[in-house]
Amino acid sequence: MEIIRARDYDHMSRQAANILSAQVILHPDSVLGLATGSTPIGTYRQLIKWYEKGDLDFRRVRTVNLDEYVGLGAEHEQSYAHFMRVNFFDHINIDVKNTNIPNGMNMDEEEECARYNGVIRGLGGVDLQLLGLGPNGHIGFNEPADSFTKGTHKVALAEATIRANKRFFESEADVPRFAYTMGILDIMQAERVVMVVSGEAKAEIVKEAFFGPVTPRVPASILQLHKNFTLVADEAALSKSY
Ligand code: F6R
Repeated sequence: MEIIRARDYDHMSRQAANILSAQVILHPDSVLGLATGSTPIGTYRQLIKWYEKGDLDFRRVRTVNLDEYVGLGAEHEQSYAHFMRVNFFDHINIDVKNTNIPNGMNMDEEEECARYNGVIRGLGGVDLQLLGLGPNGHIGFNEPADSFTKGTHKVALAEATIRANKRFFESEADVPRFAYTMGILDIMQAERVVMVVSGEAKAEIVKEAFFGPVTPRVPASILQLHKNFTLVADEAALSKSY
């Protein structure tokens, strides 16, 4: 596990964007695993800037997103499909046909999970997976549990996640209770994993996840065992670790 200690959010975003852009420059047909949430927005902004300067070309890049709320269609403002368009895809030259995200409107859980697992397999797996860190240690929507999950599955969101995500909805009651998410095994099978974390509110969970025991009670802790994992965190997020 490698740790890049960034000064602040902007520095963290640039450092993570550096790793992603190196991947795209060296391997223009890379499969990028992408995350939503507030933390990677700065990373996407930086990549957009470099694309606008002519330094990056996404024409051949393929993407798979980690997760999507069950019950929200791609046009819903809080869907992750919408988030990805507004914060990244609409601003670069990626082919939308090369972007993948679970279909939150498919109520047939078995069918949707099998479809998405097939998409990931069909792409030959993920070359670089970008992650954020949930306040309870979740990655994707893999919530604290008794065992680590494998492939794409439907999850009931933890109370902590519903509370954390209510800031994006009119009220807590509007936050969807279920999501489709890639599993922990999918994430662990990525060739490279990069996690962005910022702010003091994440300092305690960073310490638990990366300086404590590996346990499914803190899902991100398993990344300590990944062969090529880089944590890009700012000083505030690392303030309780060292
Ligand atoms: C988003 C996702 C989540 C977030 C996590 C942190 O696709 O999978 O695991 O990365 O909830 O969210 P922020 O960055 O908003 O703190």
